[in-house]
Amino acid sequence: MITIRQAQAKDLPAMQTCNLSNLPENYQMKYYLYHLATWPELSFVAENQQGRVVGYVLAKMNDEEETPEAVNGHITSLSVLRSYRRLGLAERLMTQAQRAMVEVFGAKNVSLHVRVSNQAAFSLYKNNLKFDIEHTEAKYYADGEDAYAMRKSLTGLYREAIDSLDF
Ligand code: ACO
Repeated sequence: MITIRQAQAKDLPAMQTCNLSNLPENYQMKYYLYHLATWPELSFVAENQQGRVVGYVLAKMNDEEETPEAVNGHITSLSVLRSYRRLGLAERLMTQAQRAMVEVFGAKNVSLHVRVSNQAAFSLYKNNLKFDIEHTEAKYYADGEDAYAMRKSLTGLYREAIDSLDF
């Protein structure tokens, strides 16, 4: 059984290892730390029965151009180890992060970037999680590849969170 739980500082080396083996976009440890220190509720790990981190989602709130009417979350990085793929872990990690954005910060939208060639991740975002392409950002990545800037409204989740409150 794989458990999804909030990421903690002790998970950071394993999250970084998972990232290094899966994605060309790698971050310094201080960037991971910045996420966990600033928005500790938003990042999650998938942990196997032996306590090994086999996937993670690193998420944040957008700290630029924010107005109270448009509070938006952002998915910085998502990754699942090869031997644990197609088990629904990425979808579960994303769902937890989106829910926390709404419940903790009242997020109305969530955004992310994905390589135009990344069919697996694109299919997850578009087909399973119902993100839309906002626009294409030319040469977004260091190697010159374009990114889809994708966005999804969290209004449905926001309503669910409000309805579940017991006034
Ligand atoms: N081919 C096509 N579609 C795929 C594939 C694939 N190989 N893998 C996943 N999907 C899509 C499918 O739509 C799938 O739904 P389905 O199983 O009902 O058909 C859906 O994603 C959900 O699959 P999950 O099992 O939840 O995804 P998984 O746990 O395997 O992780 C991920 C998907 C994160 C993209 C994984 O393949 C990975 O780690 N890849 C390398 C790193 C990466 O590309 N990360 C995303 C970069 S963008 C960013 O970080 C914001």
